[in-house]
Amino acid sequence: MCGIIGYVGFKEAAPVLLDGLRRLEYRGYDSAGLAVLGEQLEIRKKAGKIDEGLARLVQTAPPQGSNGIGHTRWATHGPPTDANSHPHTDASGRIVVVHNGVIENYALLKNRLQLAGHKFLSETDTEVLAHLIGWHYQARRGSSGDLHPLAQAVADALREVIGTYGIAVLCADHPGLIVGARRGSPLIVGLGQGEHFLASDSAALVAHTRDVIYLQDHDLVLLTPQRHEVHRLQGEASRVEISRLEFDTAAAERGAFPHFMLKEIFEQPQTVRNALRGRLDPEEATARFGGLNLSPGELREFDQVVMLACGTSWHAALLGEYLMEELAHLPVEVEYASEFRYRNAPINKHTLVLAITQSGETADTLAGLREARRRGHKVLSICNVVGSTIAREADGGIYLHAGPEIGVAATKTFTAQVTVLTLLAVLLGRMRMLGAAHARRLLAALEAIPAQMQTVLQLREQVRRIAHRFAQAEDFFFLGRQFNFPVALEGALKLKEISYIHAEGYPAAEMKHGPIAMIDERTPTVILAPHDSLYEKTVANLEEIKARRGPIIAIGTEGDTTLAQKADEVLLLPRAPECLWPLLAVLPLQLLAYDIAVARGCDVDKPRNLAKSVTVE
Ligand code: M6R
Repeated sequence: MCGIIGYVGFKEAAPVLLDGLRRLEYRGYDSAGLAVLGEQLEIRKKAGKIDEGLARLVQTAPPQGSNGIGHTRWATHGPPTDANSHPHTDASGRIVVVHNGVIENYALLKNRLQLAGHKFLSETDTEVLAHLIGWHYQARRGSSGDLHPLAQAVADALREVIGTYGIAVLCADHPGLIVGARRGSPLIVGLGQGEHFLASDSAALVAHTRDVIYLQDHDLVLLTPQRHEVHRLQGEASRVEISRLEFDTAAAERGAFPHFMLKEIFEQPQTVRNALRGRLDPEEATARFGGLNLSPGELREFDQVVMLACGTSWHAALLGEYLMEELAHLPVEVEYASEFRYRNAPINKHTLVLAITQSGETADTLAGLREARRRGHKVLSICNVVGSTIAREADGGIYLHAGPEIGVAATKTFTAQVTVLTLLAVLLGRMRMLGAAHARRLLAALEAIPAQMQTVLQLREQVRRIAHRFAQAEDFFFLGRQFNFPVALEGALKLKEISYIHAEGYPAAEMKHGPIAMIDERTPTVILAPHDSLYEKTVANLEEIKARRGPIIAIGTEGDTTLAQKADEVLLLPRAPECLWPLLAVLPLQLLAYDIAVARGCDVDKPRNLAKSVTVE
């Protein structure tokens, strides 16, 4: 959450920072600001989205200088106001800080500084950190040491901090220098010729350089136009590795689509193909992955799987549970990472832990991964962002290869996660009880999914019409059984995230145990009713809703003539094996959420209160 960009070099910093902030805006967008150091230190900051606030301010009064830091905010402490926007300054006004993360002991530190006479202008934890750095900077003045005085002050302050941070710091006494540090919040150094960049996300760097250093937790970095120096806050030797960013800049553009979300929905036939590429082994009727770092013997030894995830990734994990149970007969626990990390869940020693995350930076999933590794378990990540913290900290992993997902609502990464989990279930299944003929049929059906997705996407106009019909509803239900239950949850999450309509997902049969009390003629239900082994039972649930005058949007399989007689609206999708049909069924739900949100005038790609990557706990 929040985005950081820093620049030190020979160009005017403000345009570089603004461009970087625009590319990071999907991470947090309630306010933005920048500080540029030239002849003087100049700060511009404003509540609201970049183009409506900060960009206008910078255009009216462009700050001059070739050294600067910028920030786009997702509020944690204090509402999105100009005063709470970053950068924040210390008491002298000469040190400026931008920060991602949360300083948990900020109240205590603030109190101490207030007693020493410090006055604060904002409600943020970041301003406290700026003051603390300034306090150490003053206290160290004149004393000599190995480290640059600003870096030393940053290190001293961070030693007092409990919490998470990715920070960038400037000081008016030291033009041409940025100090950065991270713990729990990503920070990447971009290496240029006579210039350096610092960013919380590679999206802000690719326009300038492909050579990067992913900072580790407890790293402290000093950047000048010519030099980059990485130190460890805890004194050990630093490990600096230069990586090459593989990033298709065109993939991060919206093209002809009105929103990134719509573009990403329509990319899914291709992203599923990408997730499958090179991973099918038809001869052995199994799947193969390059980066698991586990031998077949080790994979065979696992007798349980625990999956850690949040949000949409949690829904993919739940589908993964059904898949692994069905195809590999493995017991699976799907855990909200935020709960797992604080629970003392007994896990047997032959357990494989999967951390499932699009961004690879979700704070709770990262903490869950660390907890699982601390207990001695092997952890694999299923992740989209190459080089992200979770991908680097896991013992091995599988990348989704879905390309950058900019829309805050996850779409293509969900189907890529499910694709990868299906392959993993086949791999683990083939080491256990899954027969070759069954696996071969399944893999062939999986290969056919992208073309079938293309067919489903042709329902767009029909979905749009349905969306307009129900756009004013204030409550929605989504129902599905078995493999389609996680899809129902995901459909409900998509709708509430971007349209702010209250929506709930349930296993279809669960309605009568309480939620059916909510049904009336104003409460539509989307019911996933494929022609599968439970079709009649699902239709019976549909009847129960209809009997209470609830409008019904049924999603079934082609050739179904029953649903049209019972439901208000019907969408028919191609046939696929029960365990793969969710890959098709989620598409109309994504489109429905999208079209309802557009019809209600919502900002689809930047929904209120959300951010793409949740790096706070
Ligand atoms: O990056 P991750 O997959 O770990 O993110 C997890 C959730 O924050 C994310 O799925 C969130 O629920 C999205 N807004 C879903 O659209």
